[in-house]
Amino acid sequence: MARPRVSMRGTGVLSALLYYSKQDPAELWADELKKALPKDIDIRLHPDIGDPGEIDFVLCWQPESGLLASLPNLKLIFSMAAGFDHVLQDPERPEHIPIVRIIDETLSTMMSEFAVYAVLGFHRYMPEFHRDQRQLEWQRRWPRFTADTHVGVLGLGAIGTDVAHKLAVFGFQVHGWSRTEKAIEGITCHFGEDGLFEMLSQCQQIVAVLPLTRETKGILNKNTFNALPRGAYVTNIGRGGHVVDQDLLDALGSGQISGAFLDVFNEEPLPTDHPYWSHPSVVMTPHIAGEIVPRSCAKSIAANIERFREGDAVIGVADLDKGY
Ligand code: NDP
Ligand code: OXD
Repeated sequence: MARPRVSMRGTGVLSALLYYSKQDPAELWADELKKALPKDIDIRLHPDIGDPGEIDFVLCWQPESGLLASLPNLKLIFSMAAGFDHVLQDPERPEHIPIVRIIDETLSTMMSEFAVYAVLGFHRYMPEFHRDQRQLEWQRRWPRFTADTHVGVLGLGAIGTDVAHKLAVFGFQVHGWSRTEKAIEGITCHFGEDGLFEMLSQCQQIVAVLPLTRETKGILNKNTFNALPRGAYVTNIGRGGHVVDQDLLDALGSGQISGAFLDVFNEEPLPTDHPYWSHPSVVMTPHIAGEIVPRSCAKSIAANIERFREGDAVIGVADLDKGY
């Protein structure tokens, strides 16, 4: 993507990056960004914007509506996430400004750790054993054999590919599903709608690590659950919008699905009266499967700013037509 160099306006301040997040450690980010970014870029922590005309870059999670539109010289929007669905929620977002998502090894590693933990936990009946313990029940269960267990990873992107490789290390039969056709050594790859159902019919476990798009919204629904072998397990670390909650609750109730590990939800924080909280077959975490770690991600943001200034292609620019 050829871009003009960032101009240095005025005399005092030159160029600034505005940080906006209501849930991340702002001071930590400021320290790491200061270390990583070129010295002429000032770091501003919202709401201390200073002169809005000096803001060339924004790094944000769930930016408040109108903030991005109020910055007349904004050049790049850095999503503080691998997904950028949270940026699109701002109806006033200036549509011509590229959104850059995070692609980061530390993030992929954390997501894979989480997926491996969930899959191994289900494979070795851990949620069931934890339930037995609370009920003072000593109950052995016949093991499942790893080499006979098929695990399907929905999404074979920066993160899903790492998840698939790491699951394969344990000896599972790993499948992966993507939009476009792929060939990955050691992974049985499927693509498109037919590919999804062909994969699901073989998998005792699935891990969803998809972006939320028009096509993937509600993809974990009664049709997909029914396509799995009876008693399968579902892990979702993509977005809550992938799950039709009532369909999952029904599938858990009927035994079609034996257990669900959910890190992301249609509404976050999950309302305290939601049935997932106390469901015996649901394990929940508060959207922490992968964290955007400042120490690691500040460097990739800085490298992208450098590329942008040099007129080189920025890595991770969101494709709004594809939706990811
Ligand atoms: P990428 O954009 O690198 O990969 C997306 C993958 O999904 C690609 O393989 C793509 O297929 C596939 N895909 C997209 N649409 C479809 C479709 N309609 N049918 C089949 N496959 C599809 O994303 P990342 O791997 O970096 O991240 C994935 C998602 O994980 C993020 O968007 C975010 O929602 C979630 N996430 C959650 C976190 C958490 O803490 N819970 C942390 C980080 C990310 P193809 O390869 O053919 O393009
Ligand atoms: C992400 C997330 O998309 O944290 O990176 O959910």
